[in-house]
Amino acid sequence: METIHLPEEFQKIALKARAAGKKIALVPTMGNLHDGHASLIDIARKNADLVAVSVFVNPTQFAPNEDYDKYPRTLKADEKLCAEHGADIVFAPAPDAIYAKDASTFVVENACSQGLCGRYRPTHFRGVCTVVNLLFNLAQPNVAVFGQKDAQQVAVLKRMVRDLHIPVEIIVAPIVREGDGLALSSRNKYLSARERAVAPQICAGLNAVKCAVSEGVVDVAKARKIFEEALHANPLFETQYFECVDATTMSQLSEIVPRETLVAVAVFMTETRTRLIDNIRV
Ligand code: PAF
Repeated sequence: METIHLPEEFQKIALKARAAGKKIALVPTMGNLHDGHASLIDIARKNADLVAVSVFVNPTQFAPNEDYDKYPRTLKADEKLCAEHGADIVFAPAPDAIYAKDASTFVVENACSQGLCGRYRPTHFRGVCTVVNLLFNLAQPNVAVFGQKDAQQVAVLKRMVRDLHIPVEIIVAPIVREGDGLALSSRNKYLSARERAVAPQICAGLNAVKCAVSEGVVDVAKARKIFEEALHANPLFETQYFECVDATTMSQLSEIVPRETLVAVAVFMTETRTRLIDNIRV
């Protein structure tokens, strides 16, 4: 496995591999890799001859008040995990190698990105679409693997690929959870001990909603109440949003449609202001 820092070198290797008939898989990440990312690399390995993992904390998807500066950067450990899971290339560029100082071109998706996280992070998906499009141009992948934990990101990127006729198949990997249900996330590292102890209640709340839907509940307000009850009015939780959306378009539903609805939440843990997202298909 080799680590490449320069975009032009990465693109050259990718173009050569494609010309030689090799199938390329790209796993875009922001590093600080955990078992969730490992599962994406494993899927990539099964689907391609050459597996590239990009490790890049993308500045354009963070708003000025967000955690860009403190986002954990752990390249050595990331390289180890990538090697253990059979990646061929780690692409770890510097921000100024990716974006020219006067970069003025962005990719904007205007439907799936509007609700949920997009409502609270209005420039986030513009940054994600731009960097993923840019990474596709460098990596020349046949397939790219993303995690279902970022369900809205998946919907937005699928729409981008469809709308722009980008010849990349998007593979979606299931959410990987800790034994107690907490969805794996690089941001879990920010949690205080007290927050970490109760954070699995978010997953428990989503499961309770799924259970209620299977028993006939279709009312969104009722579903929200069931979710909030699972958080036990604990002041360590502050729900930013609880929404029932169409699982493909992410548009808000006034009533749950069994099997077609995604229940998505964003919750602040109030001690450290860590924002956790999670979702479940009901
Ligand atoms: O999901 C992420 O880690 C990021 O949003 C991505 C897709 C790597 C783009 O920076």
